[in-house]
Formats: sequence, C-alpha cells, structure tokens
Amino acid sequence: MKFSVSSQRSTSHPLLLCILAVFALFATADAATLPALKTLKTTSGYKYGYVYKKAVGTKPTYLLLHGFPSSVFDWKYQIAELTAAGYGVLAPDLLGYGGTDKPAAIEEYVYSKMAKQVKEILDKEGLTQVIGVGHDWGSMFLGRFANFYPTLFPSLVFISVPYLPSQFSVEDINTQTEAAFGYPTFGYMLTMNESRAAGIFEKHPESFLSIMYPQNSSIWITDFCPLGKLRAWVESDKRVALPSYESTADRAYRVALYKAGGFTGPTNWYKSYLRDLDAVANAAIPAGNLILKQPVLFIGGSVDYITRPEVMQQIAGQGQAEGWAPTVEVNILEGGSHWVVLEKHKEVTDLLISRAT
Ligand SMILES: *[C@@H]1O[C@H](CO)[C@@H](O)[C@H](O)[C@H]1NC(C)=O
Ligand SMILES: *[C@@H]1O[C@H](CO)[C@@H](O)[C@H](O)[C@H]1NC(C)=O
Repeated sequence: MKFSVSSQRSTSHPLLLCILAVFALFATADAATLPALKTLKTTSGYKYGYVYKKAVGTKPTYLLLHGFPSSVFDWKYQIAELTAAGYGVLAPDLLGYGGTDKPAAIEEYVYSKMAKQVKEILDKEGLTQVIGVGHDWGSMFLGRFANFYPTLFPSLVFISVPYLPSQFSVEDINTQTEAAFGYPTFGYMLTMNESRAAGIFEKHPESFLSIMYPQNSSIWITDFCPLGKLRAWVESDKRVALPSYESTADRAYRVALYKAGGFTGPTNWYKSYLRDLDAVANAAIPAGNLILKQPVLFIGGSVDYITRPEVMQQIAGQGQAEGWAPTVEVNILEGGSHWVVLEKHKEVTDLLISRAT
C-alpha cells in the first residue's frame, strides 16, 4: 500500500458520503464509549481527568500510562477488553493532556512530581497495588514511578519504550542508530526541545497528527526521525492517509483535543527530560530501587522505526546481564508499529492479562 491522500477525493460522491457517514457513526462509538472521566484535584493544585473501572472481586487493576501525543483515548481498546474480563483499570490523562491540567512551566513535567500526583489518584480510589503499564513516554514515566514506589507494582509492562535505570542521551542514541540503521531515530527530539515547537504544531495540528499516526510508519525513516524533518513536514502542512486502526472520526477527535489543549504541555515531556530537570530526585533514588524485582515485560513492534525492536532487545539483554531487569521478557509483535496498543490491541490486551498476578 502507498501512503497518499487520494482516497479522500472519493468522498465527494453523495452515495459514498452517505456510506461514510454511517461508518463514521460506528467509528465515533469508539470515542463515545470511552468511559466518562472522573476528576481529582491533586494537592499540587492540578486537576486530573481519569478513567476508573473497579475490578470484579479480587482481580487486579491495571494502571495505564499513555505516551506522546496521546491521551486516555489510546487505551480505548484495553479499557474495554480488560474491564470485559473483570479486571480493574485506572487510566489518567497525564499532565498536559486531554482532560487534565496543562501548566506551561517545563519544570512541572518531572516524573517525581507527576508520580506523586498519579499516586494520589490511586490513593483516592483505594488502590495499594496496580499492574503498571506504560506506552512511549508513559513507559519512561512508569520506570521512575516504580523506582520511587517499588512496592506499588507487582508487575510491570513497558510498551514500545523499554525501562532504563538511568537517563538516556539523545546525542548517543542518534550517533548509535545512525551507524546501525542509517538514520538517527531521535533526531526529531531536538525539534520537540525547541521553544517554538508547540506553536508550529498548533498552526498545523492535522499535519502533525498525520505524521504521528501515519498509514505506513516507514515514512518516519525519511520524514520524521532525521534532524529537522518533522519541523519541515509540519511547516509545509503535509499529510498522509489515515492508518487502518484510525477512522476519520477518531482523527477528528484527536485534532479537537489538541485544538483545545495545545502542544505546550505535551512537548514539555521532552523538554523536561532533555534538560534533566529531575536530576536531583533521580539521584536520591536508593540504588536498590533501580532494580526491577517484579516480573517485567517489554512489548515492541517489528516495524516501529522510532523506538526500534532491535534497541528494545538490546536493552533487555543489558538489563539481564547487568541485573537491573533480571526477570525481563520481550515480546515483539510482528507487523506492529509504534502504535501497537491500537493496531494490535487484542494481542496487547492478551499479553497484559497474561501478566495478571
Ligand atoms: C511502506 O512503505 C515502504 C517504503 O515506501 C514500502 O517499502 C513498504 O512496502 C510499505 N509497507 C506497507 C505495509 O505498505
Ligand atoms: C534542550 O534545550 C535546552 C535549552 O535550550 C538545552 O540546554 C539542552 O541542551 C537541549 N537538549 C538537547 C539534547 O539538545
């Protein structure tokens, strides 16, 4: 399949418009059936929106932490599938996203502060143990969250982005991936780190979301990852066709979320990490807490060109050899991109259920 926008031209035919409208009705059911958000004003003063569905009986509850540029919306399938099987689910919109507050200050997006805030939601719901699940930046957050509160998580699942006991260096990753794969996988992070990034994305949210959730993710190799390419793409307002896992209604829902909330909060997740603003809190973590003693699973996609499966495998091997992730297992989903939680949702949910303790 080629990525092109040509299929959208056919929408001008009235009969097709009717058929598409009916499809859109069904498709919006996805966004509409996302359970209503509960809210909590944390002691930091920030209001959080979150989905909470209580477990049946003594079944465990999953804490689902989304990544960039997402929201609880990306967990819509896991929420439906896990709750249908009787499991509990707590899925917050993280700071800067969706129904949660979006402070402009970069230093508010450090994991030490955000972990306290999410912990308050768990406390409010009476949850003392949750299976921790992160995707993308939600995985990086989950890793530190588990370092700060090691007994909170009887089991941990990192999707697309693996656990690391220390901060990664963008420069090192770019040098290594350029040598191994012919392009720097994290070149785009330097754009995210610029103060003008949010304004550029806010001018062209459709273009930005189009390259973030493309039909064919190999476009990331040429037009997303290398230095300056993401910015050039969005500034030229380029688009590609929707991926198979996303309807026009789903996309409209995402665009509306970002038109309302903007990109300052979401890009601050990069900025705080790349400025190492959590250095003091990280240095205070006892060395023993950096070792994940509970069962750990990494889930990746075989065609994820940003957070590549080869790198995930290598980091898992390092975690075993160096002893900071002694129990880690890796499951790479064949044909899965960075968005496996949507694209391969049933496989992901089944793997989550297999980790229920
Ligand atoms: C995605 O695009 C690449 C590069 O154009 C192409 O080689 C590959 O076959 C495409 N994959 C799919 C599933 O269409
Ligand atoms: C991100 O931006 C800050 C502030 O401009 C800078 O100090 C830091 O070095 C940048 N990080 C990277 C990896 O370029």
